[in-house]
Amino acid sequence: MASSILSGSDNFKLLSGISPSGSSFLGSELNLKCLPQKGFVNLRATRTLRPTKCSLSASRPASQPRFIQHKKEAFWFYRFLSIVYDHVINPGHWTEDMRDEALEPAELHARNLQVVDVGGGTGFTTLGIVKHVDAKNVTIIDQSPHQLAKARQKEPLKECKILEGDAEDLPFPTDTFDRYISAGSIEYWPDPQRGIKEAYRVLTIGGVACLIGPVYPTFWLSRFFADVWMLFPKEEEYIEWFKKAGFTQVKLKRIGPKWYRGVRRHGLIMGCSVTGVKPYAGESPLQLGPKVEDVSKPVNPFVFLMRFLLGIMAASYYVLVPIYMWIKDQIVPKGQPI
Ligand SMILES: C[S@@+](CC[C@H](N)C(=O)[O-])C[C@H]1O[C@@H](n2cnc3c(N)ncnc32)[C@H](O)[C@@H]1O
Repeated sequence: MASSILSGSDNFKLLSGISPSGSSFLGSELNLKCLPQKGFVNLRATRTLRPTKCSLSASRPASQPRFIQHKKEAFWFYRFLSIVYDHVINPGHWTEDMRDEALEPAELHARNLQVVDVGGGTGFTTLGIVKHVDAKNVTIIDQSPHQLAKARQKEPLKECKILEGDAEDLPFPTDTFDRYISAGSIEYWPDPQRGIKEAYRVLTIGGVACLIGPVYPTFWLSRFFADVWMLFPKEEEYIEWFKKAGFTQVKLKRIGPKWYRGVRRHGLIMGCSVTGVKPYAGESPLQLGPKVEDVSKPVNPFVFLMRFLLGIMAASYYVLVPIYMWIKDQIVPKGQPI
């Protein structure tokens, strides 16, 4: 599986719109299109710098909600998607080998670690966690009871604590968990910085947060659908959110389905795994204003329907992309770029 790693110390380079090159993922077509075929690349070790479109292409700020980057809409989206979620989403975007690679930086090296899986949904990522940690020490939280109902049916998760709750307002005391994991949920959070601040709060000192999420596409059509649908943060935004929340040793590892052959122009739904360590006990030093979304505010049903339909359209596009990439992988001779 293709993967590479960026460290938080590269932050200034990324924020100024340039990214390390000299490694094969940038070499072929720039724009963060390609990853190395195998293994880790420590980009701190590379020297030549070239601009990336990826860091310049977001058409609106990450704080501005996309159509389904909204708690109520995400709730309804998963009301229906949960029926087919495990059969449709994971095989195309979030495969078992990707999951295991993405969880590696979380350092799940002891069975007695206390772990929370935020936005745990049907428990697909939790199944990867309980390979390393006793299920009784794992808590799954999600805002969708329909997704959680699927997790409850899974035998290896029978001993996990499973509860409903909001990633931006976790119902746990400060300094509770050794590990915070969240996979594929940030794209729905109206205020991602608040969610990452919460990650910091609920961890114990020295605890590790591991947040897995999509990356912003460079291909124009994929960018359009990403923008109307939900949040596809840029890599530098992930790093910035972690650092602002107070995390140290912030690292970003690129992940993707292996049949993409490292191509990243469509903005992989599961595009990176970001980790950081909590250096001090207590709450995050970051102060934030009021919540972005007022869930108690009534929603115009017509506006809701339009947003919902647009979300479905974009979701359909992103169901087709991995199929298209898989066909390309079958047709184009091995070793050639696709
Ligand atoms: C793509 S699924 C990922 C599920 C699971 N982590 C996995 O790896 O398959 C996203 C999940 O995030 C949940 N979610 C979205 N917004 C949330 C929020 N604000 N708080 C808690 N969960 C949320 C959704 O209900 C959904 O189950």
